Amino acid sequence: MAKLQHKHTTPNIYIIPICCAGILGAALIANFLWASFSSSYISITSNWAVEKSGSIVVPNATTTTSKKKKTANNAKRRVHERFLSGTFADLPAPDLHWEEMPPAPVPRLDGSSVQIKDLFYVFSGYGTRDYVHSHVDIYNFNSNTWVGRFDTPKDMGHSHLGVATDGRYVYIVSGQYGPQCRGPTARVFSLDTDTKKWKELPPLPAPRYSPATQLWRGRLHVMGGSKENRHTPGVDHWSLLVKDGEALEKEWQTEVPIPRGGPHRACVAVNDKLFVIGGQEGDFMAKPGSPIFLCSRRHEVVYNDVYMLDEEMKWTLLPPMPKPNSHIECSWVVVNNSIIITGGTTEKNPVTKRMILVGEVFQFHLHNMTWSVIGKLPYRVKTTLTAYWDGWLYFTSGQRDRGPDNPQPKMVVGDLWRTKLDL
Ligand SMILES: *[C@@H]1O[C@H](CO)[C@@H](O)[C@H](O)[C@H]1NC(C)=O
Ligand SMILES: *[C@@H]1O[C@H](CO)[C@@H](O)[C@H](O)[C@H]1NC(C)=O
Ligand SMILES: *[C@@H]1O[C@H](CO)[C@@H](O)[C@H](O)[C@H]1NC(C)=O
Repeated sequence: MAKLQHKHTTPNIYIIPICCAGILGAALIANFLWASFSSSYISITSNWAVEKSGSIVVPNATTTTSKKKKTANNAKRRVHERFLSGTFADLPAPDLHWEEMPPAPVPRLDGSSVQIKDLFYVFSGYGTRDYVHSHVDIYNFNSNTWVGRFDTPKDMGHSHLGVATDGRYVYIVSGQYGPQCRGPTARVFSLDTDTKKWKELPPLPAPRYSPATQLWRGRLHVMGGSKENRHTPGVDHWSLLVKDGEALEKEWQTEVPIPRGGPHRACVAVNDKLFVIGGQEGDFMAKPGSPIFLCSRRHEVVYNDVYMLDEEMKWTLLPPMPKPNSHIECSWVVVNNSIIITGGTTEKNPVTKRMILVGEVFQFHLHNMTWSVIGKLPYRVKTTLTAYWDGWLYFTSGQRDRGPDNPQPKMVVGDLWRTKLDL
């Protein structure tokens, strides 16, 4: 159960302990249909009350508004505490001029991507909640056309994958196998993008949904994610020595755990450091006993945390994102010594409990470790697949909002957009 704690510095801080994100708490929560695929949206309004009386702390709307300003000033310093702030709302951001490009051949949610020079490899993901893709689509930034497609291995996961590339080989780690909220696989593959040949690598010690994954200092690092039930955050961190698509070790090594677990974070290696950004604890789970593993909504907490791992294998907490942000695992690029992130999901609306998408473009300046909001996307959208080529910032796919006045998720899209960046 979440507790209400009073501290003299900041009244009405809600601390949400990890146990609340666990399966016990989840059992009290009503089963939700997975709101939001375009063709099959089902209203979940009638279930909100059940969630309220279950394990979720419901903010006092009357006090929230008056506390908002006070807490906003102090928010940066208190990254471990949860506020009833208005972070679910859009942030002020300059308009960017977005150009619509040829859409991806299929819509995708919770897919993955890597960019290798002028080619953008876009992997699997859900097409609808009952159908998952098992192929890769390729976009060429020079011709600005979709130029190819090939299949993924039959035993590879379809969504919530961990992915990383060295500029030729792509490593694809664990993830969910199948549609709805089916179980995960621990299997790990590599792809040679020159030959389109796949290889299998040693499986992860335990499967994970959407683990933070990156190549760093010669090793493939995998950490966090959700555990086997799709909901419980894992903090384990493993690494494997890899080269040219092959494992040079038989087993994964255990590394220093990540201070906070959970799925859907951006994981970026730059300037010889490993950054893990945003993410959440908790996720949809399969409805108990459902033969089709029907997705049911569970309690989630979204974070703005930024962690950095250095060569001494020490984690440092850096200034947080301007708002909590999750579903950003492939939504980032590194440009001009900064990390750019597009879209995501933030804290649910504290009153209506609706899931809220993010419509901003964020920039993290690596030279002074500060965040800016540099623009607006054409719409709010989560699990974007993002790339940068020749001055242009591109993003495609994901699940977009219901319209300018409604930040809740609706359509799964394959749309591709670009804007000229001027940093
Ligand atoms: C919400 O705040 C108002 C004003 O402070 C108070 O009267 C009311 O009892 C509070 N409600 C709850 C559920 O705490
Ligand atoms: C950090 O650097 C950016 C870009 O150079 C600059 O706009 C920003 O004001 C800097 N922030 C601080 C706190 O120095
Ligand atoms: C990156 O920095 C260089 C040098 O300051 C500048 O010329 C270039 O326009 C910048 N790139 C972007 C995308 O702003």
